[in-house]
Amino acid sequence: MSKLRVAILFGGPSSEHEISCASASGVLGAIDRSKYDVIPVGITKAGNWTLAADDAAKWALRKGNLAVVEDEGNSVAFATDGSRELILTDATGSRSLGFVDVAFPVLHGPYGEDGQVQRELEAVGVAYVGNGVLASERGMDKELSKDAFLAAGISATPHVVLTEDSWMRDPESALEKIRGLGPMPIFVKPARAGSSKGVSKVKNLDQLGDALEVAFAEDNKIVIERGLSVREIEFAVLESRDGSRPRVSLPGEIVVKTREFYDFDAKYQDEDSVDLVVPAVIEPSLLAELQKAAADAFVALGCEGLARADFFVTADGFFVNELNTMPGFTQLSMYPALWKSSGLSYPDLIDELIALAIQRSKRLP
Ligand SMILES: Nc1ncnc2c1ncn2[C@@H]1O[C@H](COP(=O)(O)OP(=O)(O)O)[C@@H](O)[C@H]1O
Ligand SMILES: [Mg+2]
Repeated sequence: MSKLRVAILFGGPSSEHEISCASASGVLGAIDRSKYDVIPVGITKAGNWTLAADDAAKWALRKGNLAVVEDEGNSVAFATDGSRELILTDATGSRSLGFVDVAFPVLHGPYGEDGQVQRELEAVGVAYVGNGVLASERGMDKELSKDAFLAAGISATPHVVLTEDSWMRDPESALEKIRGLGPMPIFVKPARAGSSKGVSKVKNLDQLGDALEVAFAEDNKIVIERGLSVREIEFAVLESRDGSRPRVSLPGEIVVKTREFYDFDAKYQDEDSVDLVVPAVIEPSLLAELQKAAADAFVALGCEGLARADFFVTADGFFVNELNTMPGFTQLSMYPALWKSSGLSYPDLIDELIALAIQRSKRLP
């Protein structure tokens, strides 16, 4: 059987560029080379698609050394005639890199995880791993996703939404809305970012100005939430192959030991400050409720392929915090770790995701 040709897209213009490189390192290292020919496509911070090194070690995350896709003096693009041919152009001219069966956008944050790259891939007729345009857009936007969860009867964290315009125009009404959330602390976050970029915990109103500044630096729309005392429980969700309910993994828990919350450094720079517990210990009836809510949330956003469903469990209930439509994929990341503990190895997980992408492309007109 001939091998499938998979273009792995990573990097990209979002502030999660380096994390995407690390995720791609995981995929490049785990994908079964006996089944797939791999074409690594790095996307620079400026948005240029370039043929990148097929080298898992080069893109791996190391303390104090975050890999970045550099402009290699070439650009790659899909042919616009629907042929799925990938074409490389450099100083010497253009040549074909062959035809691609599936693209795997291992991209986090705006552009790669919010529907934009998905829209581009649809325009050139290339099947791709993971969520479609709409679910990606909703999943990226904390306002839209909370609306979708609440409409489906899944409890979401109490919150208010603020645009930069409305804050500048009428700070008094904004403050009134914020006070309505109840006593401090509150969490201030950009509506469309990730990896905790721009997220602050605000313990008193004196800290609000700084928090708004860092959040508005990421996005002109922000979400402010009641700060809860929580266990952070996550599930890996995978679309089913037969159209039935999505598959949900065992639970994982993020235990933050020495930091205020699960911030960027805790995620990527100061791993000793957190424990990723897989599987997490949860009382069986609560676990069943959470797993059901994870599948419901996946359906509510209209997800396809995969998502990681993140919950806040409090003393008297739980809230869905967010769905990540392209979760971290490094060798140490929660998503592949959850599947591994649930009996699906990292290479088998990649097989599943690629099979789901091809299955979906065959359903399309
Ligand atoms: N309402 C909240 N109550 C308590 N902790 C929170 C709350 N919102 C966010 N956090 C903390 O901040 C982290 C990042 O917030 P999150 O909404 O998940 O942003 P991101 O999309 O960047 O991951 C969470 O993992 C959690 O540790
Ligand atoms: Mg999060």
